[in-house]
Amino acid sequence: MDLSPIPDPTLAELIALRPHLSRDALAGLMLDDVPLGAIADAVGTPVWVYAADTMRARYRALAGALKNLARVHYAVKANDHLAVLALFAAEGAGADVVSLGELRRVRRAGIDTRDVVFSGVGKTPDELRAALAEGVGQINVESAEELEMIAALARAMGKRAPVALRVNPDIDAGTHPKITTGRRENKFGIPAAAIPALYAHASQLAGIETLGLAVHIGSQITSAQPFRAAFAEIAALVGALRAAGQVVRRVDCGGGLGIAYRHEAALSPEAFAGALRASLDGLDLELIVEPGRWLVGPAGVLLASVVLVKHAAPYPFVVLDAAMNDLLRPALYDAWHGIVPLADAARAAAPHAIVGPVCESSDAFAAARTLPPLAPGGRVAILDVGAYGAVMSSTYNARPLAAEVMVAGGGFTVIRPRQEIADLWRGETVPEFIANRPACGGAVI
Ligand code: LLP
Repeated sequence: MDLSPIPDPTLAELIALRPHLSRDALAGLMLDDVPLGAIADAVGTPVWVYAADTMRARYRALAGALKNLARVHYAVKANDHLAVLALFAAEGAGADVVSLGELRRVRRAGIDTRDVVFSGVGKTPDELRAALAEGVGQINVESAEELEMIAALARAMGKRAPVALRVNPDIDAGTHPKITTGRRENKFGIPAAAIPALYAHASQLAGIETLGLAVHIGSQITSAQPFRAAFAEIAALVGALRAAGQVVRRVDCGGGLGIAYRHEAALSPEAFAGALRASLDGLDLELIVEPGRWLVGPAGVLLASVVLVKHAAPYPFVVLDAAMNDLLRPALYDAWHGIVPLADAARAAAPHAIVGPVCESSDAFAAARTLPPLAPGGRVAILDVGAYGAVMSSTYNARPLAAEVMVAGGGFTVIRPRQEIADLWRGETVPEFIANRPACGGAVI
C-alpha cells in the first residue's frame, strides 16, 4: 500500500525525465525514436522492449566517469539476454556472474572468462570446478566454509583459485529490506572483524591465490553515503591487511547504483566515482565495480494491452494482458513503475487500479494510478523494466514468456519470440503408471 504523501509524477514528467522516451503527436510514445505502438502491432503484447543506444550510452557514461579508476563488470543477473551481454561485451565490459548458467551466457556473448567475477553464497562444487577449468578471473568467497571448499577443489585440479574475500560491512544501504545485502543479518559476506585472520589463512592455502577484497551492500541505492561508509571500511581493512604483511591487489566494489523510478534522484556516475575516490583511489589497487540495474533498468519498457476495465469502487480495475509472472517487482517489493499510455494522453485523468489477470491479489502494478481513461485494446508502457524484468519472469498460470524486442537505429528486431504454448510442457512426461490407468469414466488418456 502506497502511503507516500508526494503526488506521483505526471505522465509528462515521466517522459521529460527520460531522454530515451518521447511522444509524437501521431505515432504516440516512442523509445529511442521508435514508435512503441508499431512494435505492439507487429509483435503483440505483452512484449519487453530494450533500447540498445540507451544501454550503450549509459555504459559509456558510467565507464567514462570511472575511467582510470575502476573497471566495469556488468552484473548479468539484471538482464541476461545474449543481445544485452553482447552489447556490453563490444563496449569492453567484464561480467559478474552468479551461476554456471550465467557463466555460459557471458562466454556465449563473447566475454573473456578472465574478465568474469563469480559471486554468490552457494556456488556448487560443479559450478566451482567449471569456473576453475574455464579460467574465471576472480571468485568471490562468501564464507570460511566456502574458502575451504574452493581450496580443496582447486588443489584436486592442480590449480590455484584467484579469490577475493567478500566483506559484510554491516552497513544499512537504506534500500528495500529484500534487496539489502550488507547487514550483519544478511547471508552475504564475511564479518569485517573476521577478515584479517581468514585472509592470512587463505594466503597460506595451496589451492588459493588471494587477490583482495569484495563488497556489495545492496541494490537500488540512491545516496552516495552508504557507498562512502562501505568503501571507507574496505580501505581500512586493506590498510590493516597490508600492515600485517598481506598482499592486496584488487578491490571489487560491487554494484547497487540506484535509478529514478518515481521521486528518487538516481545516483549519478560522478557521485559514485566520488565515493570510490574518497577512500580507495591512490592505494595502488585495481578497482572493479559490478553494476546491473543502473546500466539497463531505464532502457527497457514492458508493453501491455488493456483486456477490460472492470468498474469498481474506489477505482476501476484496468486489467492488462501483462501480469506478475512477467514483471514481478511490484508484487515482490511493492515497487513503483511509471505506467504511460502509448496513445496521446491529453484527456482528463482519474485514479485506476492497474492489475494483471493472474489469480492472486498481489498481481497488481498499481493500486491507485492517475491515468486518462483506458479502454479495451488500449496500450500502456510500464517503464524502467530493463533490469530485473524479463529475467525474473515465470510461466505461472501457464502464461508463456513474453517476447523481447530491441530497438536501434530507428528500427526494431525481435530478439526472442513469444514462447509457444506447446513449449510450456516441453520436457514434461506423463509416466506409464498414470498414462495407462483408466480414468474414472473408463477413458484412457
Ligand atoms: N553484485 C552483487 C554481488 C549482487 O548481488 C548484485 C545484485 C549486483 C552486483 C548488482 O546490483 P545492481 O547494480 O543491479 O543493483 N531483484 C531485485 C534486485 C536484486 C539485486 C541482487 N543483487 C530488484 O528487482 O530490485
